[in-house]
Amino acid sequence: MNGRIPESFISDLLSRVDIVDVIAPRVELKRAGREWRGLSPFSNEKTPSFFVSPAKQMYFDFSSGQNGNAIGFLMAFDRLDFVEAVEELARSIGVEVPRESGGRARPRVSTEGPLAALEQAQRHFEASLRQSQTAIDYLKARGIDGATAQRFGIGFAPDRWDSLTQQFRDPGPALAAGLLIARGDDPANGCYDRFRNRITFPIRDTRGRVIAFGGRTLGDDPAKYLNSPETDLFHKGRQLYGLYEARQALQHPAQLYVVEGYMDVVGLARHGVEGAVATLGTATTADHLHLLFRSTRRVIFCFDGDAAGKRAAWKALEQALPTLGPGREVRFMFLPDGHDPDSLIAEEGEAAWEQAVAAAQPLSRFLLDRLAADCDLTTPDGRGQLIAQAAPYLARMEDAATRTAIIDALVPRTHLARADIEAALRGGRSSQQTSTASARNAASNGAPRRQRPVGRALQLLLDQPTLAQRVRDLDELAQVNQPGMELLVAVLDHLIEEPDTTAAGLIQAWADREQRQQLEVLARPMAVPPSEPEAEFDDIVARLRDRGRRLRVETLLQAARERELSAGETEELRALTAARSGRGG
Ligand code: UTP
Ligand code: MN
Repeated sequence: MNGRIPESFISDLLSRVDIVDVIAPRVELKRAGREWRGLSPFSNEKTPSFFVSPAKQMYFDFSSGQNGNAIGFLMAFDRLDFVEAVEELARSIGVEVPRESGGRARPRVSTEGPLAALEQAQRHFEASLRQSQTAIDYLKARGIDGATAQRFGIGFAPDRWDSLTQQFRDPGPALAAGLLIARGDDPANGCYDRFRNRITFPIRDTRGRVIAFGGRTLGDDPAKYLNSPETDLFHKGRQLYGLYEARQALQHPAQLYVVEGYMDVVGLARHGVEGAVATLGTATTADHLHLLFRSTRRVIFCFDGDAAGKRAAWKALEQALPTLGPGREVRFMFLPDGHDPDSLIAEEGEAAWEQAVAAAQPLSRFLLDRLAADCDLTTPDGRGQLIAQAAPYLARMEDAATRTAIIDALVPRTHLARADIEAALRGGRSSQQTSTASARNAASNGAPRRQRPVGRALQLLLDQPTLAQRVRDLDELAQVNQPGMELLVAVLDHLIEEPDTTAAGLIQAWADREQRQQLEVLARPMAVPPSEPEAEFDDIVARLRDRGRRLRVETLLQAARERELSAGETEELRALTAARSGRGG
């Protein structure tokens, strides 16, 4: 894409601002040891659990589970998108934001054309609605009043092939935006309108810009709804219909409802229920959840009560597990048979909707009810089976308090004590749980339980990046077959190359989103701070190397049983065993 902000600028920016200067004017902070502490700006807490670390250049909000660098804070606090936050930060220290690709000024260069075309299409559709009695009658029949239609920018695409096409002298940007379709491969052969004889719903991004459309047919088109195709601006997996409008209506929504359809969002709003958003004909993604939790603390998924609804709910649950945390809640509501939110509220009234909301199940109940359905809880075996089935789901929860809540909910179902359940979980997940997820959990909760060395090494590095300089021979370390080793080696590599990096800078530089989140969690203030960080770190690295050598020796010995070793391998084996006995076993 054109006009990107260079990565190097962002890391440079992060190294030049002090996160304390960014947050202090917005949140009252008091010194607390190495950190600054204050009341969480993201919740209404009474005891301060919001920390800012000048050393790591990160903030940690234990009440909402959010953490990040100065850019992330501005995004969350000032509700900015990434580019806006970078611009704001740059402004605060008086520097210009450079752009890649020939120094063109704004990222808009690539989207300006399509964005302008989308805006023009929006005006055209709204004007066409005013002129179409059929369309107006349809909306009226569906109970949508003029004010609601206007607020959501509902429009109409006339039943013609060129109604919108005619609006553009140059069809290029409108083609790029997915508004028009080229006849054949060459746009020179002309274009035609994608949306015809449809009620149009503009899809807006979080800044309110129209980036795509949905359209409902007024005829008997087999495709009842049609969406814009994926474009540079529009990614279904990252967009939620109605989110912009919800945030306009509610400054800080206590909850957001995730519904299925455009008409559900609009129909609910029409009846005074603000805060409904819809996925765009796709399953809920992790990106959707992150987007939702940027605006609210409680997400209520709303599905049909039928089998398909339950399946969709389960998929949403799976995406939600890693995003749960303190002050974040997910609920599931199921509607009475044959209703969607729009028809329920229109036909049965607001009370029926409220009733369905009140009956929404917490995630723990939905999860365990569903797992328990396959287990005979009257027998010890069945109860053990429930725990075994819950284990992989618990493993995907990064937040210790969330896991605790699920384990608490298992107590009455299994008639077992917490400690027994925890023991069963530890026993049962030896193989699949040796992932970094467990390292993450160990890192993020308070108990000094056995922590995986790789996770601890990362924690120490994030706390004190200069420790990386102590490591020699990264290649050897990279051979060590341990969960998370690849990440550890990559982090070491980065820190050795760039010794001045802070935790925030490191995480910012991380391209892999999942690993970035792992690093963020590991960067939290340590439950067990090191008394001698250098010694502890050296010891972990030595143990990892040792383990790698042992495994390598085993591999070579195994090979020796099956074939003759090469000269190089023999030499390697001798060196390895010498090194081991040299270390005293
Ligand atoms: P539904 O078929 O449940 O329709 O589609 P609805 O929302 O109740 O529509 P009305 O009330 O008849 O107008 C739910 C959502 O699934 C997507 C759309 O996002 C729609 O809002 N969908 C549905 C499509 O993308 N294409 C389709 O053909 C149908
Ligand atoms: Mn409907």
